[in-house]
Amino acid sequence: MFSLIYGDNYNAVSSEAYKIIRPFIDKDRAVLGLVTGSSPIGLYKKMIADHNANGTSYRHVVAFGLDEYIGLPRDHDQSYWTFMHENLFDGLDILPANIHLPHGDVDDLEAECARYESILRENVIDIQVLGIGSDGHIGFNEPGTSFDSVTHVASLEDSTRRDNARFFGEMVSRVPKKAITMGLKSIMRAEHILVIAYGEKKAEAVRGMMQGDICEQCPASILQKHPNVTVVLDRAAASRL
Ligand code: GLP
Repeated sequence: MFSLIYGDNYNAVSSEAYKIIRPFIDKDRAVLGLVTGSSPIGLYKKMIADHNANGTSYRHVVAFGLDEYIGLPRDHDQSYWTFMHENLFDGLDILPANIHLPHGDVDDLEAECARYESILRENVIDIQVLGIGSDGHIGFNEPGTSFDSVTHVASLEDSTRRDNARFFGEMVSRVPKKAITMGLKSIMRAEHILVIAYGEKKAEAVRGMMQGDICEQCPASILQKHPNVTVVLDRAAASRL
């Protein structure tokens, strides 16, 4: 079931997203599922600003990343490990031991998927933040991914690699072709889901997620089966609803 909230611009979308996530931080042991991309950066800035201004502590928070590129070492400037540290974790007092992200540069990827999924199973995510790809992907679960998928190795669609080339000096060839991602079933275990989408480019994917057929060709459409999803959008992302 979806609750829909609008923001007039990126800052307003980020503020609304922040209002949703803030109460979870007050829990004794908050488990957050976190996403990369341009959509959550404003939210993360607000979390850091609140930590700095009001002393809101994240020492009791456990964080899980959704996905990681395969083949990039953690210290690569475009790894999702680096993204999450630069855009969020380094600005908070979260304990390094409580930060979980899949490793994308290991020899045994299947073992890494199994390791990550087993930690996820031991921790119910209170709130999972998601962005959405222009093709309807969530995490790196591209169209055609099984709704029963757990953490797995995914191949990236050409359209996703083109979308993400902006982070790799506009060179699609530099964007990895594979990633480790939480599966759709892993994502659906979260108690609450918060989707942030901004801009006209996301409008069709947002329509598919909320109003399209529930089908594996639009991975985000699985969220129609979740009892508790908040979607924060600007008017452009909502323009096809
Ligand atoms: C990547 C990530 C997704 C993210 C998507 C959208 O593909 N794997 O989890 O939602 O990008 O990113 P953006 O918010 O930059 O549009």
